[in-house]
Amino acid sequence: MADFNLPENSKVKPGKVWAAPVGAKRVKRIEVYRYDPESGENPRLDVFHIDLDRCAPMVLDALLLIKNEIDPTLAFRRSCREGVCGSCSMNIDGHNTLACTKAMEDCSEVIRIYPLPHLPVVKDLVPDMTHFYAQYASIKPWIVTQTPPPADRERLQSKEERSKLDGLVECILCASCSTSCPSYWWNGDRYLGPAVLLQSYRWIADSRDETTGERLDELEDPFKLYRCHTIMNCTDTCPKGLNPAKAIAEIKKLLVERQK
Ligand code: SF4
Ligand code: FES
Repeated sequence: MADFNLPENSKVKPGKVWAAPVGAKRVKRIEVYRYDPESGENPRLDVFHIDLDRCAPMVLDALLLIKNEIDPTLAFRRSCREGVCGSCSMNIDGHNTLACTKAMEDCSEVIRIYPLPHLPVVKDLVPDMTHFYAQYASIKPWIVTQTPPPADRERLQSKEERSKLDGLVECILCASCSTSCPSYWWNGDRYLGPAVLLQSYRWIADSRDETTGERLDELEDPFKLYRCHTIMNCTDTCPKGLNPAKAIAEIKKLLVERQK
């Protein structure tokens, strides 16, 4: 019979417990995944009790307070603090989202924070995005043209042409969608995943790009594209409210239409 237990050295053990500050009246319990591959120790779940009266409202604010005042060894990524850079994506309360736009009051009584699932962990909440970015580079995320540009102006788009990119250009490449997708968990080595496919469609849909045929050729592959089984976790989880499943469906539609 198959053994579905985690290997002994991957089991998450109970970690340190940090008490609430003296005099704190509104205390929040936050449990944070900790892992340092170089230590040789198992991952652990540390428990922090923070004083909500001394903390700004978002989950990222709590992590910053923990790092600044309780445990400076905690590792996580962040930059913009306003849902634009995509670097603070992590799994909060069982959902992949952005720590900087997730309010603590919208979380459960005890907030549990893990790194994005099914990626190797560099340290604590920092996943290794190397493969994800290599897949992104593979779709040539830039305009490719074959004709010379007009001599007197840039390559222009009509309003209608530009509107076809709405819902695509807002993607911040946070990878929340791809790492919530079971198909990507099991076939991420060859399946491009929802984020990269949405980005791929962004260039296919761009009226200025002149390599739609080549782009579709690249995607017509049982793994790169067709490992999408319309599970829809991607669209459900996207913190920017985008619809990667629809973008994937649009690519599939174009592939069918060009057979006619
Ligand atoms: S589609 Fe949404 S969840 Fe996926 S990478 Fe882009 S912003 Fe993040
Ligand atoms: S810090 Fe930039 S999206 Fe959260």
